[in-house]
Amino acid sequence: MAKGPYSEKVMDHFMNPRNMGEIEDANGIGEVGNPACGDVMKIFLKINDDMIVEDVKFKTFGCGAAIASSSMATELMIGKSVEELLQLTNDAIVEALGGLPPAKIHCSVMAEEAIEEALKDYYKSKGEDPSVVDDMKAKVKKDN
Ligand code: FES
Repeated sequence: MAKGPYSEKVMDHFMNPRNMGEIEDANGIGEVGNPACGDVMKIFLKINDDMIVEDVKFKTFGCGAAIASSSMATELMIGKSVEELLQLTNDAIVEALGGLPPAKIHCSVMAEEAIEEALKDYYKSKGEDPSVVDDMKAKVKKDN
């Protein structure tokens, strides 16, 4: 058992974040901030012609839980389709991390929102209407 409120997985991803950095030729970039805590998260996506995530990186200026959430999110995103990305909720991220304290759930919500923003940017970069992301997201929420 890990000491303190954080699971060993959270501590591991905080101390050794995976996929931290930027992607120069990203075709989807999402940035979100939480005005309450002042933390900012940025996700870079490289999506290939088959609409599969080939590469993903993140930059998070934020608390340990936000860094761990973004790191875990990137691990869950690689190799996934755009559709699968939309099904990646903050609950799934929290579960993969072995839990987060209640006061830190919003940190994982930021990761879900950053993915959404990055996907909207991806559609924009293709010259398509980014609101399809909202529509698909609403459908996922309804189906669950
Ligand atoms: Fe705000 Fe963690 S405290 S993202």
